[in-house]
Amino acid sequence: MDTIQDINVMPRIGDKAPAFKAVTTQGNINFPADFEGKWTILFSHPADFTPVCTSEFMTFATMQKEFDDLNCQLIGLSIDGLYSHIAWLRTIKEKIEYKGMKNVEVTFPLIEDITMEIAQKYGMVQPGESTTKAVRAVFFIDPKGIIRTIIYYPLSLGRNFRELKRVLIGLQTADKFGVALPADWHPGDDVIVPTAGSCGKAKERMEGKDGEMTCYDWFFCTKKLPKEEIDKKLYKK
Ligand code: BEZ
Repeated sequence: MDTIQDINVMPRIGDKAPAFKAVTTQGNINFPADFEGKWTILFSHPADFTPVCTSEFMTFATMQKEFDDLNCQLIGLSIDGLYSHIAWLRTIKEKIEYKGMKNVEVTFPLIEDITMEIAQKYGMVQPGESTTKAVRAVFFIDPKGIIRTIIYYPLSLGRNFRELKRVLIGLQTADKFGVALPADWHPGDDVIVPTAGSCGKAKERMEGKDGEMTCYDWFFCTKKLPKEEIDKKLYKK
């Protein structure tokens, strides 16, 4: 039985990812249990056989190895049936050549959700935009099944998949190194160290006693974190 939490409540950052069982183009899944220990990006698209979605799937599938290497499983969803999904993915592979991408095989699971049960659970149907199609939602879920980032795009705008990869790397870097990441951060840029927790520490930092840090004020200090160190910790061997 649904609990009050399951009914018409949009999941939020920090919540446990709502559980579901689904039929996909790669067989049945039990989410998030089947993916414990991995990051997942669960994303919705409005409809199969539509141009923006086709460009998105080709782009994401072409980047699949980059996400695999970061221990991240991609999982798509739309309010279409399994046979529509299969036919669309076959068309993409067999017929579509776009921006140098061709013969693109989508090997990550694509969920059928004709009942909208999962889309509703995840707040992917936003009636002001459409009552019959999911918006372009992206949920980043960590290896313990906790939602860590949510991004929504409207029907008319394709996602920036480089940005989605940057978000994943940012979340993993923040976790592994205990740092925060400033505006427009990319691996190799300086990172933000936790704010001084005492007057003494604040004074030390402002006196430049920690040579590793650059402090713009007592509460805003950064340090170097070379890209190679991040790569070593994040990427599978
Ligand atoms: C598209 O993917 O092209 C699309 C889907 C739904 C509404 C508008 C555009």
